[in-house]
Amino acid sequence: MRIFLDTANIEHIRHAARLGVISGVTTNPTLVAREGAGDLKAAVLEICSIVPGPISVEALSLDAEGMKREARELSSWHENIVVKIPVSEAGLEAISVLSGENIKTNLTLCFSANQALLGALVGATYVSPFVGRLDDIGHQGMAVVADAVELFDHYNLPTQVIAASLRHPLHPIAAAKAGAHIATIPYSVLMQMIRHPLTDIGIARFAEDWKKVIKQ
Ligand code: G3P
Repeated sequence: MRIFLDTANIEHIRHAARLGVISGVTTNPTLVAREGAGDLKAAVLEICSIVPGPISVEALSLDAEGMKREARELSSWHENIVVKIPVSEAGLEAISVLSGENIKTNLTLCFSANQALLGALVGATYVSPFVGRLDDIGHQGMAVVADAVELFDHYNLPTQVIAASLRHPLHPIAAAKAGAHIATIPYSVLMQMIRHPLTDIGIARFAEDWKKVIKQ
């Protein structure tokens, strides 16, 4: 399973990229808005220059024609751009055309295995089940990830599953066990995955003991 960073924060992306553990980035309008108003194209191109992998950017149109127009524009900015398109009739129609044009797409706001299956059938490059938001309403979000992986494997569908809306450090483990191709995680979760109090205590103790060796 690969890890993408789910953020539009340039400093966080730079840091995670330096660690060598991320191979892509996903953004959405909320994450972009969190970083303040600015030049979207410049920000996206900066992300592309930092991470040499898939960079998801959301199309905001609600109709198929608008989605296709936006997707063509966004994907012309850089070869690694993946256009996020929400599940809807318009979204499926747009993706079915865009996949024929080799434009990479990420079916977003996916909340059921049926939606994921339809995304794969119209040729989406990725589908993104939103695990945390399903958990929020008392459903098993990761079950959608597991079902989508099973269905795609069963029929050799090339669409990859991105476990999204992950909120805590147990989520990436569960996503990996469910067979997700990718887990996209917030920067805070990446930091939580790295840190462990026993590691900190162990490092401090080794450093202290080493000082004693040097003094001898
Ligand atoms: O990857 C989708 C993600 O950004 C949504 O997360 O926490 O807003 O449900 P959340």
